[in-house]
Amino acid sequence: MSAASTTPAVVIDVHLGPDDQAEALRRDVRDGLSRPQKSLPPKWLYDERGSELFDQITRLAEYYPTEAEREILLRHAPAIIERARPHTIVELGAGTSDKTRALLDAGRAASTLQRFIPFDVSEEFLRTTAATLTDAYPGLLVHGVVGDFDRHIERIPRGTERRMVVLLGGTIGNYPTAARRTLLREIVAGLSPGDRFLLGTDLVKDPARMVLAYDDPQGVTEAFNKNVLAVVNRELGAEFDPDRFDHEATWDPHEEWMDLGLRSRADQTVRIGDLGLEVDFAAGEYLRTEVSAKFRLASLAAELASVGLEVEYWFTDTAGDFAVSLSALRE
Ligand code: AVJ
Repeated sequence: MSAASTTPAVVIDVHLGPDDQAEALRRDVRDGLSRPQKSLPPKWLYDERGSELFDQITRLAEYYPTEAEREILLRHAPAIIERARPHTIVELGAGTSDKTRALLDAGRAASTLQRFIPFDVSEEFLRTTAATLTDAYPGLLVHGVVGDFDRHIERIPRGTERRMVVLLGGTIGNYPTAARRTLLREIVAGLSPGDRFLLGTDLVKDPARMVLAYDDPQGVTEAFNKNVLAVVNRELGAEFDPDRFDHEATWDPHEEWMDLGLRSRADQTVRIGDLGLEVDFAAGEYLRTEVSAKFRLASLAAELASVGLEVEYWFTDTAGDFAVSLSALRE
């Protein structure tokens, strides 16, 4: 048959080619390693191995955010859906959309939900997720968008229907203050009156617990963190020796974020073949790989207000470790 007579249940828009990613990595590594304070953006932690290690992290007893957010969503998804009444749910950084199923279940029960738009950087992940969800939710239209948070949010299909944009997992914590504002502004630009924004944020708590969550005794987070060196070695012909760096996770009480990085054990020079670059590390020099900001309800509400959002509801887990906020454009 040459023409489809029905709308396909899955559509995937791809805004990212393999070359875009390769180019972005080269740029990020070149820029990040030539600065006085060396850093690499956390998005490069997630190749196949990194995603697998992150999945292991989410199952560690010390890493509380995943279970806390799951508890919130399982308990409050019906209330969230009742309030937001979305025709379309857009999930930013969807991954496997595992926890989102609570929202999709509640959306189906309330029979308002017609469409799910998962947005993710990994086309492979997105295709698998889209296929799984189409099977699990007959009648739900899945429109995946492959793109990068920093460049393609505006490419998410718009419409006149009511939508709820969700950003879960504490992903927003990876953005330092200025970048977070830019991201929030982009999200707000895609909202219409009546739309909702559902945001998962880890909360400030006892520093000892936060440090343990990012420096687990089993060393899973250490392996995850060091994996970025393996990514740079493989993709850019670099010669990092992960054993010559120490994993570090410290609480910065001023910025209120966990600061994750790798500290050079000795003076060393690392060749990055494909960039024709030699990078010097002094003994004790720090390479930041990630920040994970933690929030307080009042300051987060103020931050959301400053980009035009008003929080309608806060949902927290019983232990008070994590918060999910539901907000809308201020009238
Ligand atoms: C995926 C960004 C939410 O910051 O807690 C977990 C990543 N890094 N352990 C977080 C992470 C080390 C995670 N986020």
